Amino acid sequence: MSNQDTPPPYEQELREKSEPKENVRRVPYFLIMLVGAIAMWALNNIFSTPSGELTEYGDQRTVADLRPPIATSGASKVDGKQIYAGKCIACHQGNGNGVAGVFPPLAASDWVTGDEKTLTHILLHGINGEIEVKGVVYKGAMPAWKTLSDDELAAVMSYIRSDWGNTAPAIKPATVKEQREATKDQTGPYEGGKALKEGS
Ligand code: HEC
Repeated sequence: MSNQDTPPPYEQELREKSEPKENVRRVPYFLIMLVGAIAMWALNNIFSTPSGELTEYGDQRTVADLRPPIATSGASKVDGKQIYAGKCIACHQGNGNGVAGVFPPLAASDWVTGDEKTLTHILLHGINGEIEVKGVVYKGAMPAWKTLSDDELAAVMSYIRSDWGNTAPAIKPATVKEQREATKDQTGPYEGGKALKEGS
């Protein structure tokens, strides 16, 4: 009976430890301030940096700026090789040797490397008749190219005078202009090599 009245501190009870308790450890005040400071700095940085809404920050290049520069050859600003590839290559061929019996060669041709006036006359008015090139007589038709500008004709002539082993000096646009004027009475192509020689 006495047991019920005053509960003795049992040995087992005394041995037990209290239940563990979970505490909340607060984020240090210092850390909160640090994160806040970094956030403020970052926002300030974003808003104070020019973001490109001004057109001066954009790509100011125009279409003309993006075009590749035109390669220059000889005395002229136009690329003679390009004109050759566009206008002459079909007949006189890429190697300047022409087609045997049909289209005369430009490589090592006296007409090409010789008198610049005669060459200019050939280009301006064309040839229709017999012309001897490197010992072979051709009887074809060389078209006139007077629709090309002085610059273009000078460039293509300077090109054919300097490729395939040809080493004649370049021809200036001024020379083409001069000869265009000097031969303005020439209607139609020259009648072969003889007429060309007489015409110069
Ligand atoms: C449709 C074909 C054809 C085209 C294109 C052509 N030629 Fe000719 N060319 C000829 C023929 C054919 C002759 C020879 C003319 C003849 O027999 O009367 C000739 C002759 C010549 C000659 C004098 C002969 C020689 O071989 O040296 C020169 C220089 C010449 N051409 C340069 C040019 C140049 C430069 C171009 C381009 C701008 C050109 N030709 C485009 C067919 C052509």
